[in-house]
Amino acid sequence: MLKLEGVSLSYGSFRALDQVSLHADKGELVVLLGANGAGKSSIFMAISGIHKACSGSIAFDGQELVGMRPAAIVAQGVVHCPEGRKLFAQMSVQQNLMLGAYVHRNAPDTRARSQQILDEVYTLFPILAQKRHDPAGALSGGQQQMVAIGRALMGRPKALLLDEPSLGLAPLVVKQMFEIIQQINASGVTVLLAEQNAYSALRIAHRAYVLERGRIVMEGLPEQLLHDEGIRKAYIGA
Ligand SMILES: Nc1ncnc2c1ncn2[C@@H]1O[C@H](COP(=O)(O)OP(=O)(O)OP(=O)(O)O)[C@@H](O)[C@H]1O
Ligand SMILES: [Mg+2]
Repeated sequence: MLKLEGVSLSYGSFRALDQVSLHADKGELVVLLGANGAGKSSIFMAISGIHKACSGSIAFDGQELVGMRPAAIVAQGVVHCPEGRKLFAQMSVQQNLMLGAYVHRNAPDTRARSQQILDEVYTLFPILAQKRHDPAGALSGGQQQMVAIGRALMGRPKALLLDEPSLGLAPLVVKQMFEIIQQINASGVTVLLAEQNAYSALRIAHRAYVLERGRIVMEGLPEQLLHDEGIRKAYIGA
């Protein structure tokens, strides 16, 4: 369903992605592991059209995404929840969430549709319903991550790209975050999840890739990676 073939991307003369090929089938939860600077975010920015991939192919349901505008890619059902959350701190929780509904602006039933998805997001994250009028910047880190994920869900994604959603969160909150991601996936959304928190990510993954210096160096089932000595040393410890 989402398929990258030979994707390379450069920042000036620095090649951040080198011939990356990977795929996520419909309904899969695929994890992308890699150290700082390995290129995880670059893969997401290539898919979502923020950085134009220098070469290669990115197909979603058979449609080529390379060269498409970011808004058109969202309209195809591929939604990116960026690293660092990127919320508007002064705006309310609900205003931040509604930004994600922009993609439905031309639908005949824009208001009703947005309201319905908003209700679904509040059902998934009841705390956000309570805090809907608070400035997003006043929320805890975990709650802000919920807003970022909720905003992405407002676009009704078929495929959700989650970039390090557990970053900077307390262990108990991380656990809840992974449960929610699993729940979103179980509702039928294909998930591509970039994580440094390898152990927790592999526990919910169907499949995983390991990225090193812009290249895919390993692909496998979670149990294979969890038992791989190199992976354990590099990403899990002990
Ligand atoms: N805008 C940019 N200009 C120049 N180099 C960049 C830019 N963005 C990323 N890079 C470089 O590209 C490489 C891959 O970065 P990327 O952010 O994709 O990695 P990452 O795996 O997401 O890392 P992290 O875990 O720190 O988020 C790094 O060496 C980084 O320094
Ligand atoms: Mg990153």
